[in-house]
Amino acid sequence: MSSLHNLQHFLADDQLTKSQILALITLALDIKQQPKKYNQALAGKSVAMIFEKPSLRTHVSFDVGINKLGGHALYLGQQNGKLGERERVSDYAKNLSCYADAIVARVFENSSIAGLAQHASVPVLNALCDLYHPCQALADFVTLTENFPDLSQVKLAYVGDANNVSNSLMLMAATIGVDFTLVCPLGHGPTEEMLTKGQELAKNTGSVFTFTTDITAIGQQDAIYTDTWVSMGDENPSKKATILAKFAPYQVNHQLMVKAGACIVMHCQPAHLEEEITTQLFDSEMSVVFQSAENRMWAQNAVLVTLLGN
Ligand code: NVA
Repeated sequence: MSSLHNLQHFLADDQLTKSQILALITLALDIKQQPKKYNQALAGKSVAMIFEKPSLRTHVSFDVGINKLGGHALYLGQQNGKLGERERVSDYAKNLSCYADAIVARVFENSSIAGLAQHASVPVLNALCDLYHPCQALADFVTLTENFPDLSQVKLAYVGDANNVSNSLMLMAATIGVDFTLVCPLGHGPTEEMLTKGQELAKNTGSVFTFTTDITAIGQQDAIYTDTWVSMGDENPSKKATILAKFAPYQVNHQLMVKAGACIVMHCQPAHLEEEITTQLFDSEMSVVFQSAENRMWAQNAVLVTLLGN
């Protein structure tokens, strides 16, 4: 647990060390196996949850998860206006710090997460922004740990649009030394800055990080991951047909699984069936999507216990 003592916030995957991530995975599995041991970990503590965007898994897994730790979760939607518009992000952070012991935030812009963390006197957890989805990535590595005998030997590929989910997976994989292949259509890859971060982290851990636009170059993989081709806030009906045509060769389906030799398919959900993934594969024995959805709660609880546990 010592590697976790200096964790102040949970904001972005590249702000975590390998030992912190591995310790969080171990803790998540312990909480999952022995929930009673932790049922007072957040007793007397309240967590304010800000949601600028829709949510099913994140909202419910945080709310129920906090309840399982003996804490109290408070949902804040848009009733107080958009973050930074009715009042400054800094004032939002300072006010919430008067009452709550932690702030969970799903926001449009990463700058809002950074602003909350800068001005809050309590820990801030990123529950998705435009750049990262670290809660999802942590849950996914918990899931991979459960499905493979040695996480360090797993080969993971993400196929589709480079987005918050792929950024977090890429950075977390590179940090803990998991080989990671990113396959995106031309023009839909990560930013240069994100790519460089991934490459640097992979170099440090000696893992292999591959980025390609060629779906036929996916190579041998253990697990294949995909996510929506259009993320929340990026919807543009006039571009939908172009996106569907451009991404069609990148659909994750049985043929791709066979070609890569992969035995596990992952998706953060919500899935757009017959777009980025076939219904048949999503519903198949190879799919661990609901295992990962459950692990969201255990992974987040590990973060909460670490940041503010009694
Ligand atoms: N990339 C998706 C993830 C949803 C959980 C989005 O941001 O909409």
